[in-house]
Amino acid sequence: MAGMKRFLTFGVVLLGVISASCGRSTPTIDSKEVEFVLSPLSTFNISCIGENVIWAEPLPRNTFVFPGSDSSTLVIYNASVEHTGTYTCQNQNPDDRPVDEDEEFNEAVIYVFVAGEE
Ligand SMILES: *[C@@H]1O[C@H](CO)[C@@H](O)[C@H](O)[C@H]1NC(C)=O
Ligand SMILES: *[C@@H]1O[C@H](CO)[C@@H](O)[C@H](O)[C@H]1NC(C)=O
Repeated sequence: MAGMKRFLTFGVVLLGVISASCGRSTPTIDSKEVEFVLSPLSTFNISCIGENVIWAEPLPRNTFVFPGSDSSTLVIYNASVEHTGTYTCQNQNPDDRPVDEDEEFNEAVIYVFVAGEE
């Protein structure tokens, strides 16, 4: 029984190490800025660099995501006031494991402001 217990403990520790090293690259916004002011009707795109990164849903209308191998590009077409807000790039969670407690290492946030049309 003691052997079994040691085996299980080892398994749990191993799992912890795997989940800590796998898919844990920190998402990074490919820009010095994290706040963007867009003109109404303009097109905007921004990439997030990292393994298995996604842009968190829900996304407003006219917003598209182009996934790459180690990045994800968010494109806003025909910007309007409804695109004002924060956009979060985060590590995807392939196994539906709960996202790491340490959220700030797992996501990057940008803020977009689009003025209303005059
Ligand atoms: C993003 O914008 C750059 C120029 O700023 C452009 O070269 C590139 O094609 C755009 N990418 C997409 C997916 O629209
Ligand atoms: C862009 O949005 C405006 C209103 O916000 C709309 O009137 C116009 O038709 C849109 N243009 C395109 C190409 O979707």
